[in-house]
Amino acid sequence: MKTPTRVKLTDVGPRDGLQNEPQAVPVAIKVELVHRLQEAGLKDIEVTSFVSPKWVPQMGDNAEVMAGIQRRPGVRYAVLTPNLKGYEAAALCQPDEIVVFASASEAFSQKNINCSMEESIARFRPVAQAAKAAGIAVRGAISCAVGCPYEGAVAPARVAQVARLMRDIGVQHVGVADTIGVGTPAQVQRALEAALQVYPMDHVSGHFHDTYGMALANTLASLEMGIWQFDTSVAGLGGCPYAKGATGNVATEDVVYMLHGMGIETGIDLDKLLDAGVFISGFLGRKPQSRAANALRTKRAG
Ligand code: HMG
Ligand code: MG
Repeated sequence: MKTPTRVKLTDVGPRDGLQNEPQAVPVAIKVELVHRLQEAGLKDIEVTSFVSPKWVPQMGDNAEVMAGIQRRPGVRYAVLTPNLKGYEAAALCQPDEIVVFASASEAFSQKNINCSMEESIARFRPVAQAAKAAGIAVRGAISCAVGCPYEGAVAPARVAQVARLMRDIGVQHVGVADTIGVGTPAQVQRALEAALQVYPMDHVSGHFHDTYGMALANTLASLEMGIWQFDTSVAGLGGCPYAKGATGNVATEDVVYMLHGMGIETGIDLDKLLDAGVFISGFLGRKPQSRAANALRTKRAG
């Protein structure tokens, strides 16, 4: 399999990243982050989630954030929807894409969305139908595709099973997510292969958290299989409140640095991306969780 020459990155920082932050992040900061990401050339941005504010208070300002964004033509704005109530609220904000999320592990499904995996799929059926009727794209995230914080290792057959259930309810694209960042390259390849039994290459993406420092290696292992779409997070923000100990997603800056170094196009301006990461990290009172970003900052300063 030939390594792709162009890669599409979806920055999930505003959603996956900020959902895990304990401190309140004002709407204006979230909107500014989205603006800076689109300014850096990101064409796919996961903005927020329409989940219960009792479960994830940080995303309670979802509609205000969506309303505050000055949209650019050619940029797709995605939001997470766990059920029909979330979808109905999301639809009023006219997202280009909604994301439904089901777990390959039963225990995580219960902790994260308070229902079994089968029940979650049943909830997503009307969501997918409504989105399709409204002309909104439907993506599915398969959580805990390699490992679960409660059950341990997850078999690839579970990934294929969730992918089949998603396909059957009309989900158009699936993301294979290593929610807790435990996977190593061969394991991630097996999980992706399982998804590829059900969806074609152009409709499978990778979503890797970097808890064990494996996310960049897993991205490369995926590229070698021909996977060309990934979720990444500016400044390495991220984590799931219901996946204890899991850290951020692979940093967009690290992935862009690697891809550009390999001669793979992303359409992203690394310099402007760096500024976006410095902006949000500055607000959060820390350095970007990105080796490339920090090396480039040192180089800039020198
Ligand atoms: P529940 O408590 O079982 O829901 O939560 P319920 O149907 O019994 O409703 C309870 C209350 O929530 C009711 O309000 C509902 O109206 C309200 P009350 O009558 O008590 O005032 N409610 C809602 N409010 C706003 N928006 C909604 C909504 N739905 C119900 N959509 C539920 C079930 C799914 C809602 C809850 O478990 C939840 O919101 N979970 C979300 C957890 C979450 O956001 N996790 C992080 C995102 S997933 C992730 O990060 C993984 C990913 O990045 C990929 C990866 O890395 O693996 C995608
Ligand atoms: Mg995630």
